[in-house]
Amino acid sequence: MTNQKDEPLERFDLASLTPFDQKYAALRDLFPETFSESEPDPARLASILGVSGTDVVERYGLTWPGKANAATVIQKPSVGTLRLDSEKSVAAETGRDVVIEGDNLEVLKLMQRSYHGKVKMIYIDPPYNTGKQFIYPDNFREGLDSYLQFTGQADEEGRKLFANAETDGRYHSNWLSMMYPRLALARNLLRSDGIIFVTIDDHEVHNLRLLMDEIFGPENFVANCIWQKVFSPKNSARQFSEDHDYVLVYGRNGVEWLPNLLPRTEEMEKLYKNPDNDPRGPWMSDNLTARNYYSKGTYPIQSPGGRSISGPPPGTYWRVAQEKFDSLDADNRIWWGAEGDGVPRLKRFLSEVKDGRVPQTLWKYEEVGHTQEAKKELLARVEFGSSDSVFETPKPTRLIERMLRLATDSDGEDLVLDFFAGSGATGEAVWKLNKEDGGNRRFILVQLPEPTGYDDYETVADITRERLRAAGQDIDSGSLGYQSYSLGKSNFGVWGGGADTEDVQQALSLFAENVEDQASSEAIVTELLLKAGYELTTSVETLKLGGEEVHSVEDSQLLIFTGDNLTIDVVEEMVALRPSLILVLDRAFGDDDELKVNALQTVRSSNQGETDISLKVV
Ligand SMILES: C[S@@+](CC[C@H](N)C(=O)[O-])C[C@H]1O[C@@H](n2cnc3c(N)ncnc32)[C@H](O)[C@@H]1O
Repeated sequence: MTNQKDEPLERFDLASLTPFDQKYAALRDLFPETFSESEPDPARLASILGVSGTDVVERYGLTWPGKANAATVIQKPSVGTLRLDSEKSVAAETGRDVVIEGDNLEVLKLMQRSYHGKVKMIYIDPPYNTGKQFIYPDNFREGLDSYLQFTGQADEEGRKLFANAETDGRYHSNWLSMMYPRLALARNLLRSDGIIFVTIDDHEVHNLRLLMDEIFGPENFVANCIWQKVFSPKNSARQFSEDHDYVLVYGRNGVEWLPNLLPRTEEMEKLYKNPDNDPRGPWMSDNLTARNYYSKGTYPIQSPGGRSISGPPPGTYWRVAQEKFDSLDADNRIWWGAEGDGVPRLKRFLSEVKDGRVPQTLWKYEEVGHTQEAKKELLARVEFGSSDSVFETPKPTRLIERMLRLATDSDGEDLVLDFFAGSGATGEAVWKLNKEDGGNRRFILVQLPEPTGYDDYETVADITRERLRAAGQDIDSGSLGYQSYSLGKSNFGVWGGGADTEDVQQALSLFAENVEDQASSEAIVTELLLKAGYELTTSVETLKLGGEEVHSVEDSQLLIFTGDNLTIDVVEEMVALRPSLILVLDRAFGDDDELKVNALQTVRSSNQGETDISLKVV
C-alpha cells in the first residue's frame, strides 16, 4: 500500500466537487478573517456582518424535520461514475445528446466539475407528491450504495420503493428533503443567464416556492405561470375540477434575465391591415387619447376633411403634444378614418412593432398542449400493447417547447437539462424545435430506472430511451441519437466494495492497486474525463506515443495513460504535445519509483518558461 505522503507525484482528486468547495472559496476571498484554519467560523462572520446571535432566534423561512440532514447530503461527494453504454445508445458517434440512467442526486454531483455554469435551461417535472408516487429512498448516509442496492447492482437485497403517502407523518418533509439537495446542486450548473422551470401542482407549490426562494434567492423569482392542462372539466370532481398546474420560473440571475419574445400569432398579424396602401406596409390604429392628465394634451385640431375638433373627447387628453402630433401627421402616421373626418388615431406599423410578443403568465392548452395530447404523443412513439397506462405523467412537447423558446437560442449550442426525465418529452421537444428553427440546442436527461412492473419496458429509463429512439427516427430520419450512460461504481477500487467513505480525503490516501480488474480503458477514460472537468460528449482520440496508446482529450489538453507500461519515451512524447494535464494510472509505474521521479523531472524541466503541464497519478 502506498502512502500519499511518500509520493513524489501528486494524486488526482477523484471526488466530485461539492458546491461548498466553491462557496467556501468565494467566502474566503471576501472575508479571509472569518476562517479559522481552513474552516469558516460562523461566530466571526456574524460579528463582521454586525449580526448578533440573539437576533437570529426567530427568522422567516421554510423549515422541516430533516432539513439539516438534507443539507449535509449536498456536501457529501459522489463516489460513483458514469459509464457509457454503447448498446443502449443510438448513433452515439453523432449524438451530442445524453441520456443518463441513475439517481439524479448522484448524477448531479458527478456533473459538478464538468457542467458547472454551463447549462442554459433546466426543466424539471418532479413527482408532485400526490400521495401515490414514490419518493426515491435517499437515506442520507448512503447515496450511491443505496442506489446500487435499489437497482440490484449490489449484493444485498434489492430495496423496495415506497409510496410517500399523505398519511405519513413526514409527508411534506420527505418530499422537501428529496428536492432540497437536488435543486441546490442543479443551481450550480446554470449559466449566469440560465433559467429553471419547474412544473408542480397544489400539493407542493407553496413549499416549492419557499424552497426555491431559499436556494435561488427570492429576487431571482421570475414568474409562477399557470398551465391550463385539461381541455374539458371533470364533472365528477367533488369540489373544483382542477384545470391547471403551475410552472415556477427562477433565474440564476433572475433580475437581469430577459426572455426571448414569442412568435406573433396569426390572429395578431391579422389585426394589421393597409386600407390606405401605405408603402410602409400593414398597420393597425391605436388610441391617441388617454385618461391620464397631460398638461399639453388639450389642443384643438382640424381634420383633413375640414372638420374642427375642439379637443380630445371629454375626460381624456391627447397622448402627444401638438408639435409631435403635427410631425406625425406630416409623416402620414395619423389615421382620420376612411372618410378623413374621424377622431385621429395613431398608425402602428407591423414592421416597427416588437418582433414578437411578450410572454404571459397564463399558458393555455391551445398554445402549449394538454395532458391528453401528451399521452397521445407518447403512445405514438412507444408501443405498450394492451396496457397503455404504463407511464401516466408525460408532459406535452409543446409545453416544453414554450420554455425552450423563451430561454434558449437556436444558434448557441445551448445545453438543456432535465433530471426528472420520465418519458423523455424534453429531449423530443429539443429535437422538434431544433428541426423547426435549424437550432443546435443539446440535452442531458437523467432518469431513475424506476421499475414499471411491465415486461416490455422494465424501467422508466427504458421508456425514455425508446421514446427518443423512435422520435429521432421520425424527426430527422434517423440522424438524431444520444449517448446512453448509467450510474455505477467508480472504476477505482477505493470507492467501491461498499466502503463507507465517510472521510473522502482519508479514503483517497489509501489508493494502491486501485483500478478495478474488469475496468475497461474506455470506462476509465470516461471517469477521468468527467472528473477532470470535461463534458461527457467531449471527443477522445487515441494516439500512439512512444509505441504506447495514449488517450487525447480536446486536442491534447488532457492526456490519459491507462496502460501498464509507462516509459520515459512515452512521457517525453506526451510532454511535447503541451497538455495542461497528464493523468497516469498508478499501476503504470509498477514498483519503479525512479520512473516516477524521472517523469516528474521531465515535466518540470519542460515547464521552464512554458505554460505549466501538471502530471498526476490516479
Ligand atoms: C412526473 S415524471 C416526469 C415526466 C416527464 N416530464 C415526461 O414528460 O415524461 C417524474 C419522473 O422522475 C423520476 N424520478 C423520481 N425520482 C428520481 C430520482 N431520484 N432520480 C431520477 N429520476 C427520478 C420518476 O421515475 C418519474 O419518471
